[in-house]
Amino acid sequence: MGRRATITGWGTYLPDRVLTNHDLEHMVETSDEWIVARTGIRERRLAAPTETTTAMAAAAARQALATAGLGPDQLDLVIVATVTPDTLMPSTASLLQAELGASRAGAFDLAAACSGFVYALAVGAQFIAAGTAQTVLVVGVDALTRWVDFSDRSTCVLFGDGAGAVVLQATTADEGILSTVLGSDGTGAWSLYIDGFRELLSANGATPPKRPYMRMKGSEVFRFSVRVLGEAALEAIQQAGLQPQDIDLFIPHQANLRIIDAAAKRLGLPMEKVWVNIDRYGNTSAASVPICLAEAADAGALKPGMNVVLVAFGAGLAWAASVVRWGWQGVPGREAG
Ligand code: UT7
Repeated sequence: MGRRATITGWGTYLPDRVLTNHDLEHMVETSDEWIVARTGIRERRLAAPTETTTAMAAAAARQALATAGLGPDQLDLVIVATVTPDTLMPSTASLLQAELGASRAGAFDLAAACSGFVYALAVGAQFIAAGTAQTVLVVGVDALTRWVDFSDRSTCVLFGDGAGAVVLQATTADEGILSTVLGSDGTGAWSLYIDGFRELLSANGATPPKRPYMRMKGSEVFRFSVRVLGEAALEAIQQAGLQPQDIDLFIPHQANLRIIDAAAKRLGLPMEKVWVNIDRYGNTSAASVPICLAEAADAGALKPGMNVVLVAFGAGLAWAASVVRWGWQGVPGREAG
């Protein structure tokens, strides 16, 4: 058995403030029925000003380190997947490294929007497989509601804020990250993007004409997502030398329940094998997959030897998938979560 990365710690952070569909009914012309029927979302969390991207990442990371039974000084690398950093410079990973006291670690951000965590997991796993790192912290964190136009009903009902983190460690056991698939189709870049950024930069010190906000061509992204979610998952399953029926738990990016349903059907997986929390958190971008993974682990839904598929898609357009064989068996005296 070669050297691989395995998940030994996990954690999450969700802001306290809940924004329900009924709250949104007072903000734009929408209804709880429309949102539930078209997306599966009932409520989402909203980061308060003090709940910065770095603060949310740090809370999730501390939990992940505690689950793994590690101190911050044992980390070799900190990777933060985010497209909503607190500032463009320095990186959120550097701010997080300081916050945690991970003094030995290299640190960088990775921008792949909603696919960011699965991309970052692949990168961290490669560092470990190559022998350049023993222990890597991978965080998926986004506060997309800071970039949402709350007068645009086609986007404001979809997104929420949060963070999820995992600790990766080296193993030679038959477990860990078995395969990773990364993909991108930049010809679809302007289907989901932040509008007004170029105007902001070209204002050259003058007052910019408008504040940048996220824009989306929903039905284009929908068609892309339905296709790519199943395809990317299948590719990762095949690369791991497995069949869809070998998959014990399917953890898809939580963007729309209809997209998740379609992917599960494509793989022939019953919904009991699919982790869904979109009703409670909406689309938390890079945080969505690691929040699901941590919830599943805390709920005892992951047993050693289980094959788990992680798959995500989003702005880029980009996608990523990974098959993980769960290895965490628990350590005497140490509880998960
Ligand atoms: O992480 C990846 C990011 N994004 C995604 O994965 C999103 C992918 N896309 C989607 O999930 C869906 O396209 C949406 C949920 C965004 C929209 O659902 P849809 O079934 O594709 O609806 P639609 O865009 O075709 O719009 C249908 C109607 C339109 O009205 P008309 O033109 O038929 O009169 C919209 O104006 O629904 C209207 N609509 C709404 N109505 C009530 C759009 N947003 C809303 C809303 N409430 N919030």
